[in-house]
Amino acid sequence: MDEHISVLLTESIDGLNIKEDGIYVDATLGRAGHSSHILSKLSGKGKLYCFDKDNDAMEVSRNRLSAISPQFELIHADFKNLKEELVKRGVSSVDGILFDLGVSSPQLDNGERGFSYNYDARLDMRMNQEDKLDAYTIVNTYSETDLRQLIFNYGEERYASSIARNIVEARKEKPIVTTFELVDIIKKSVPAKYLRETHPAKRTFQAIRIEVNDELNGLKKALKGAMELLAPKGRLVVITFHSLEDRIVKEAFKEASEPEKWNRYMPVTSVTSSVEFAIVNKKPIVASEEELSINRRSHSAKLRILEKN
Ligand SMILES: C[S@@+](CC[C@H](N)C(=O)[O-])C[C@H]1O[C@@H](n2cnc3c(N)ncnc32)[C@H](O)[C@@H]1O
Repeated sequence: MDEHISVLLTESIDGLNIKEDGIYVDATLGRAGHSSHILSKLSGKGKLYCFDKDNDAMEVSRNRLSAISPQFELIHADFKNLKEELVKRGVSSVDGILFDLGVSSPQLDNGERGFSYNYDARLDMRMNQEDKLDAYTIVNTYSETDLRQLIFNYGEERYASSIARNIVEARKEKPIVTTFELVDIIKKSVPAKYLRETHPAKRTFQAIRIEVNDELNGLKKALKGAMELLAPKGRLVVITFHSLEDRIVKEAFKEASEPEKWNRYMPVTSVTSSVEFAIVNKKPIVASEEELSINRRSHSAKLRILEKN
């Protein structure tokens, strides 16, 4: 129940190019799979800062990391405030930052958290148990139009219209309380052939989870802050699990690594052709055959690396 197999572990740790006296950030601590490896490479002069907004992740990982070295600090905060939280602690420059996005296996497998369409639980999906907005509120209070747009935009679900319509119909009778109640409504909203292709609730659950945790806006802000913190030769390593996340990372890296565009309104002296960042791997790194055979979560994983010049 408490196990999480880290995805693209060797590739992401190699991607960070760790110096033993460097300062590193794991923006998504989880069960400390990646953090343990980073920490074990640091000397007494190095330091690792670990973020997670999930209380459970903090507690379990503290013990695991303490057994390796004291050179770490846990920060219970949203990574969208990564830069602000580090600056508050006197850290204005770091040598590497890792993001391993999404949910951990313990979050998915813990029936009470309501992330999974495979377990019956109250509709919740909050990564931070102290947040106010949860899946129940979205499913039971958003208008049909908002639900349709959300399921279409964040789930890329082609049956978003009928799913949204049926949610609104069902809740006229009584509130939709559990994951399985929602799964039943979704199953009735899609054609039989779709049920054979994929789990019909996969995309809708992804969409609601993104909305509950404001995942895409948070990621954009976090990437900007992370780039501002990187020291020369510092590395930003990001593992994504679906196309919406990957697109944000790909575009942010592309923009950061392109020379400033010529602006005809700017005086010639302020036009610079220097580029601050370089993309390390032109194509995203994906899991090897071996990893694919042992870890289901690795199938959709993509790893991108950016280096500060
Ligand atoms: C895929 S897991 C990380 C697993 C970890 N790399 C390991 O190997 O054990 C992602 C973790 O990031 C956390 N997380 C996701 N979005 C976050 C955010 N915006 N701020 C802070 N933590 C976040 C989740 O709570 C989860 O524990």
